[in-house]
Amino acid sequence: MNKCKIALLAMVLMSVKGMSQARQEYLLEKNWKFAKGEHPQALNEAFNDKSWETVRIPHDWAIKGPFDGNNDLQKVQIVQNGEQEATMKAGRTGGLPFIGAGWYRLSFSVPEFRAGKKAVLLFDGAMSNAVVYVNGKKVGNWPYGYNSFSFDITSFLHTKAQNTLAVRLENFEQASRWYPGAGLYRNVHLIVTNDTHVPVWGTYLTTPTITQENAAVQLLTTIDRSNKQSTLSVKTRLLDAAGKVVATAVTPLKADSSTVTQQFSIAHPVLWSPETPVMYKAVTQVYEGTQLKDQYETPFGIRTIEYKAGKGFLLNGQPRKFRGVCNHHDLGPLGAAINTAALRRQIRLLKDMGCDAIRTSHNMPAPELVTLCDEMGIMLMVESFDEWKAPKVKNGYSFYFDDWVEKDLLNMLHHYRNNPSNIMWSIGNEVPDQSSANGKDIARRLQDICHREDPTRPVTAGMDRFDDAINKGFAAVLDIPGFNYKPARYPEAHSKLPQGFLMGSETASTVSSRGIYKFPVGFYKGKMYDDNQCSSYDFEVCSWSQVPDDEFVQQEDLGYTMGEFVWTGFDYLGEPTPYDSKWPSHSSYFGIFDLAGIPKDRFYLYRSHWNKQQPTLHLLPHWTWPGREGQVTPVFCYTSYPSAELFVNGKSMGKLSKDTSTHQSRYRLMWNDVVYQPGTIRVVAYDNTGKAVAEDSVSTAGTPHHIQLEADNNVLTADGKDLSYITASVVDAKGNLCPAATNLLQFEITGAGSFKAVANGDPTCLEAFHLPQMKAFSGKLVFIVQSGEKTGVVKALVKSDGLQSASCTIHVK
Ligand code: GAL
Repeated sequence: MNKCKIALLAMVLMSVKGMSQARQEYLLEKNWKFAKGEHPQALNEAFNDKSWETVRIPHDWAIKGPFDGNNDLQKVQIVQNGEQEATMKAGRTGGLPFIGAGWYRLSFSVPEFRAGKKAVLLFDGAMSNAVVYVNGKKVGNWPYGYNSFSFDITSFLHTKAQNTLAVRLENFEQASRWYPGAGLYRNVHLIVTNDTHVPVWGTYLTTPTITQENAAVQLLTTIDRSNKQSTLSVKTRLLDAAGKVVATAVTPLKADSSTVTQQFSIAHPVLWSPETPVMYKAVTQVYEGTQLKDQYETPFGIRTIEYKAGKGFLLNGQPRKFRGVCNHHDLGPLGAAINTAALRRQIRLLKDMGCDAIRTSHNMPAPELVTLCDEMGIMLMVESFDEWKAPKVKNGYSFYFDDWVEKDLLNMLHHYRNNPSNIMWSIGNEVPDQSSANGKDIARRLQDICHREDPTRPVTAGMDRFDDAINKGFAAVLDIPGFNYKPARYPEAHSKLPQGFLMGSETASTVSSRGIYKFPVGFYKGKMYDDNQCSSYDFEVCSWSQVPDDEFVQQEDLGYTMGEFVWTGFDYLGEPTPYDSKWPSHSSYFGIFDLAGIPKDRFYLYRSHWNKQQPTLHLLPHWTWPGREGQVTPVFCYTSYPSAELFVNGKSMGKLSKDTSTHQSRYRLMWNDVVYQPGTIRVVAYDNTGKAVAEDSVSTAGTPHHIQLEADNNVLTADGKDLSYITASVVDAKGNLCPAATNLLQFEITGAGSFKAVANGDPTCLEAFHLPQMKAFSGKLVFIVQSGEKTGVVKALVKSDGLQSASCTIHVK
């Protein structure tokens, strides 16, 4: 794709500098008009939308709330959770007002559009049931809210006058198991080309053979044209990461034909991997005689992926196991509205944990995520559906399945088959069709479509119905059998299935609330407390799920396991298990990071096991327990070191080493009998030779005294979209975190940026994300500052009654 994107002003098209003469691609971001509800006349050009709200997209119309348990209140029995009867579920989809219709309108002109030009609208995703009108006429519709789709609007456009784009969206109740978001929550592009051009997703690039000396590259380019008489010339240059041309090809495209295949050889290719995310680019030019008709770019990477019986997954010939997470698409306080800076932060946090893979559960990702994974080095399982023919929710994808499944798959496959980060397709998650007589036939059909469009990647599905999936032949069909929450049954699956490997497509689902610890400490399934929180000792799970250690053991001990995708990397809106029926819980407890993106203790457990580059040493719980004096308060240490010694107020509690006696003792050091006294707990870690190499400590906090700020990004780009996430902590006079602090913090952002949103990670908090104040949760929260479009300085001031304020400065360049 031509990356030269320039925002389109609604009334006047900005002058387009530096763009290829052959095609113009605009991001339709600003000056949209929006109104919720039914506005049947809004499709007409003459409709007066002056009173509508002016919005910038990506836009999520529901994220400002207010939260209310009656929004999409669902009386359901969640069969896949083993529930025996239907109960009222208030927060299942997040308690936000996303149900109903909404309209967007945009007035725009396209000066360079004239006879002989083509115009296409490309939606990265629209939630949901989109119907698109241009100048009063319907150009098309697309029901599935997660997919990208495009329409040729050439015959609908006015050449000289203003054009009107209107989009009607509608979300139905009981159509989702989580918060889907609402509106034009992903980008919309207008692409203007010549009549002869490469269509949307019109290239397919593969690397058939790769050695140290050479990579063979094959590029299949489709060309649309109405003049089928002339011979075209297709010239492609391959550029390395530094922009140097490393291979070229010039190929004639005969009259009457519409595809051209070009072969290249790149000497000494630099291979793509999560550790070395090196990208190349193919730049294709289409000439008619000497006239440049189109220029199209295909970013790509060079890597091999293999899936072998007995060996599992190999990347560039090296066996490795996925250290992956499943993520939903929402960005916590930003809702579903896509933001590249927010995604980049997520990936940065995940990579620090040692994570190398993401499953886009349970739907197609935003293209920005895929690009970031290419560029930052994360492997992707690109997933498509949570439902096929058999429903999980009353108004879900099963309605569309027959008419849309192939179209939806095709768009996903064509969109993401050039991305090196994408290492497998998933055709579904826990589809109840696993139990149907024809489930395996549907699986085969969908898998065949994937193979037909992209023979280079294998296909998986996340299976929860272990016995049916195996006995009815469903699991045997898949290239990669993916099991959700079945570590204890991996040996059985392996012995019954032909593939010779399997994967933990969804694992753990441990629940915890950041900074909350419950006593007595023990393993619990479905445990609920009066405060609607879960314990951060990381022993609490659902009836179907496990603690992280149970999966670690199987992944380490069984040679045929290919790794795991933990449920989930980040907390998300909706699905507040185990409090599905207990409003005000409305966001998940599964995340390794909370909804604000602050790490829970579990982050350090995964990091200690997954991050082989940097050491981890982390103590829990906090050590401020007024009223617990004299009571047993276990202390855990999550560390990459083999042993450590704990001291409570200077007194040794003994040295512990990891051992294989239990799943937990293999990965955690646990002093279970520590008796709480205020003071300091300190841990000293030892390496393999018994040398003391690191230490960490936690002290009892005094009363809240001041606020500490830490920005993750002190220099923002002046694009009106870049974000700095600033963590605010309530601390005592000595700077110790006050772990029970719930002070109301208020934010004043001045200068070259603005306040964007705030979150505290408390799944029960009903405060609005978009207002510049919120209570701290477990002493912390994160507020987000967004850059303006002019350079300068942003000042963020945080105040709270009874606390010393704090401020920080961010530069916008
Ligand atoms: C799985 C499901 C996920 C999520 C998870 C919670 O069964 O695939 O979408 O619901 O359970 O544990």
